[in-house]
Amino acid sequence: MLRRVLLAASASSRLRQLITTAPRTRAIVDSYVAGETEQDAVRVTRALRAAGLKVSLDYLGEATEDPAQAAAVTDEYIELLGKLSAEGLTPRGAAEVSVKPTAVGLFLGARIATENISRICDAAREAGTTVTLDAEEFEAIEPTLRIAAQLRAQHSDLGCVVQACLRRSEADCRALAGYGIRVRLCKGAYREQESVAFTARRDVDASYARCLRVLMNGPGYPMLATHDPRLIEIAGSLALLTGRAADSFEYQMLYGIRPAEQRRLADTGAQVRVYVPYGGDWYAYLLRRLAERPGNLAFFLRSLRSAGRTS
Ligand code: FDA
Repeated sequence: MLRRVLLAASASSRLRQLITTAPRTRAIVDSYVAGETEQDAVRVTRALRAAGLKVSLDYLGEATEDPAQAAAVTDEYIELLGKLSAEGLTPRGAAEVSVKPTAVGLFLGARIATENISRICDAAREAGTTVTLDAEEFEAIEPTLRIAAQLRAQHSDLGCVVQACLRRSEADCRALAGYGIRVRLCKGAYREQESVAFTARRDVDASYARCLRVLMNGPGYPMLATHDPRLIEIAGSLALLTGRAADSFEYQMLYGIRPAEQRRLADTGAQVRVYVPYGGDWYAYLLRRLAERPGNLAFFLRSLRSAGRTS
């Protein structure tokens, strides 16, 4: 219930104004976001790489309906890839980028989004690294997977994401479990209708385990994005059972969440990639993280109250 309220709040412009101007939200933002600038993104990437972790960078922002904004986001990614490459952070996909298709124009039409994503893929190739297309709201899933399939003809390493909460996802995993295809499996962070998604936590977890089995048994490159200890354990057992080499799949976690577990897994010889968001447009991302962690809610409500008194 609480999760649904927070996810609904992520679309409210009045709350956005209140929360983004509240002084006390900064500390919680900083725990999930690398900073506002490209320099912040590069600095955090450097530190994570020094700790033996891989990185996927997300320039925050989504759902633009302005072609100029979609082009600006595309340019930001291209510039970022150039900087990461110049710092020697990109070889063999060490630091890559995650792109939200709606941030680069999906709601303006598939053609614009495809062109922008293609430009980012070209820059990534030049830098020696990869791009992964994030999964967003249900309405964006089909067009995103279509764009990924189309662009994979020129960029075979273009990754995509499957959200285990969706009823369609096991079938999507079977369709995507092709040779070398990079598929990130996550639980899903958006509020979806019962008709298309599992809404009970145990059903989402069971779906994740089924999708995990499909991907780990297939010839692709699974990217297991979860902080859930039980699912991480199942992934490890499946890797042993299927005889997967450590470099044939990776664990992924979000910046600021379970950092000790990120290091522990990397110390076992596993590949671990940290998803690092940066930029000023952090509101919707923050609300999704709060929705996953009701323990942070007390802090969040206190900052809201203090904002209410000052505005
Ligand atoms: P779950 O929410 O059950 O959490 C398991 C444990 O992790 C918790 O008990 C707690 O210890 C810890 N934890 C989880 N969230 C936390 C938080 N916010 N703060 C503190 N601790 C927390 N979603 C999506 O829809 N599209 C996408 O493209 C992506 N991409 C993506 C990339 C990567 C690398 C990750 C890790 C996740 C995503 N997600 C995503 C988000 C994903 O769908 C999901 O919402 C979160 O990962 C939380 O789910 P868990 O699997 O961690 O389990």
